[in-house]
Amino acid sequence: MNQKNITFETHLLDDIPSLMALRVGLKTGVLQVLHKGPMSRESLGAQTSLPCSGLDNLLGLFRQCGIAVLEGKCWQLTPMMQDLMSVDPAALRRRADFVALAACDVLMHGDSLMSDPQAFQRAAATFRFFRYDRALGTGAAHLEDTAPWANYVSDLTAREVPDLVPLIPLEGMGHLLEVGGNTGIFARGLLERHRGLRATVLDLPAVCHLGAGVLPETFNTRLTFLAGDAREIEWPDGDAVLFKSVLHDWTDEAAQKMINKAAQHVPVGGRVIICERGPIVEEPTMCGATASANLVFSQYYRSPSFYEAAINAAGLKLLPRQSVSLDMAFHVVAGERI
Ligand SMILES: C[S@@+](CC[C@H](N)C(=O)[O-])C[C@H]1O[C@@H](n2cnc3c(N)ncnc32)[C@H](O)[C@@H]1O
Repeated sequence: MNQKNITFETHLLDDIPSLMALRVGLKTGVLQVLHKGPMSRESLGAQTSLPCSGLDNLLGLFRQCGIAVLEGKCWQLTPMMQDLMSVDPAALRRRADFVALAACDVLMHGDSLMSDPQAFQRAAATFRFFRYDRALGTGAAHLEDTAPWANYVSDLTAREVPDLVPLIPLEGMGHLLEVGGNTGIFARGLLERHRGLRATVLDLPAVCHLGAGVLPETFNTRLTFLAGDAREIEWPDGDAVLFKSVLHDWTDEAAQKMINKAAQHVPVGGRVIICERGPIVEEPTMCGATASANLVFSQYYRSPSFYEAAINAAGLKLLPRQSVSLDMAFHVVAGERI
């Protein structure tokens, strides 16, 4: 996805009428039909389940938000929308659905988000979406419950790879253990950059199963999945251990424990690397419905100084912090075993 696609997608997702129109268009198949070519309103009505008045309203919204235009008697996608639909309509739908879910949560339960994060977790549909407990098995039902969020996370990660991979200090390392590495998208980006590197992705069983199922052959000998619960399973030693957008899921004590454990699994000169979004309070601008996708986790994003203190507490020598601004600021905090 290029920057033009991302800017147009954000424009559509940020605004409630266009977010609604996009989701309805993808769910009813109107957008998929128009992606194949221009079509009259009557033919569109015959091919989709929408009644006339609903279809008219939807097409009106499409026109207002730059999704489609009427040319003569036929509706057609704008060049920007045609281009966006050519990238990955399934991923677009996952992203639109998650933004809508998160926007509903922050609007309906914003008070508990600020005052009682546990009450927010109980009330928010977002947290019922990330069912880590359903990823402990690899039966058909486990995979079905895990694929939606694992794929959503993979889509986001794929966008982060170009900016974050260069900041991960892996020069000269032979083996990386990535804890909570999801379907391996980030590890694949690292392997492409560091030709001498091998990686083991440790994640929950259903996630590893999904990742192994989509692993391109070119990575077969360099990327291995290790299925299990990171708290219980034995970790292999590596030259580096990476936690990318993982530790915010854990309490301060559990995060420190993970970092300590990682420090014991690297040799002298080996590294423990943490890559996380920074705290919401330090963000210069949070705007539009897309901000909800991060706001729902606002109580869990920490200052990089927390991770720096944790690296010190694990007895590692701190390396210079690296930061980059994407949908939010990301910080890479790393320590070397001495
Ligand atoms: C927020 S996602 C981040 C994924 C990935 N690192 C990325 O940035 O795209 C957290 C990941 O941690 C994994 N995870 C959660 N609890 C885990 C556990 N107990 N053991 C292993 N992995 C776990 C989840 O399955 C998920 O893939």
